[in-house]
Amino acid sequence: MTEVLFQHRFQASRAGVSEVPTLLLLHGTGGNEDDMMFLRDYFGENYNYLSPRGQVLENGMPRFFRRLREGVFDQEDLKFRTAQLREFVLNTASIYGFDKKKIVAVGYSNGANIAGSFLLSGFLEITHAVLMHPMLPFQPRPRPVLHGKKVLITAGENDPIIPVENTRALENLLKESGAETTMFWHQSGHSLTQEEVEKAASFVHALEFK
Ligand code: MLT
Repeated sequence: MTEVLFQHRFQASRAGVSEVPTLLLLHGTGGNEDDMMFLRDYFGENYNYLSPRGQVLENGMPRFFRRLREGVFDQEDLKFRTAQLREFVLNTASIYGFDKKKIVAVGYSNGANIAGSFLLSGFLEITHAVLMHPMLPFQPRPRPVLHGKKVLITAGENDPIIPVENTRALENLLKESGAETTMFWHQSGHSLTQEEVEKAASFVHALEFK
């Protein structure tokens, strides 16, 4: 019996579940499985949408992993939850019949951080990724091999939660690991901007899958 570890939403594309890429939507702290579904209006109907709810509660707010305080992560829990997310993706692929080789993570804030952790852990199931307002979740040793992956990072120069140099550290690490990494900065803070979501959509539309 396949175990489904996360409460989630799955919306299949009418273009055929197994044909199209699946967007793995990962919300920020205090979000849920509905939060990121608005992206469908930007990304369109030619994708499946898989949106889990983070299982950790911080003062009642769902997250994907525990933190000790703002910006300081519980590394043991991060490792455990990242592996759990991977299992979830693999299990739901079998259940819904989407292609495991066409998965694009689209994460915001805490969701971007677990997507980053997924990539840096060397788990290859995320084919490409959009990381919106991410941090470097941990320093991987050895570095993962991420050749063939495209990553878009979007971030705000005036984000009070995510230091610019921390996002740059993630960008550098992804590049050094072989991922084709594109950076988009805007001048706003931690909230998503319309322009950044539009950037994310055109990035995803241009992706190719082998
Ligand atoms: C995190 O805890 O993942 C980051 O600090 C972003 C957030 O506040 O969720």
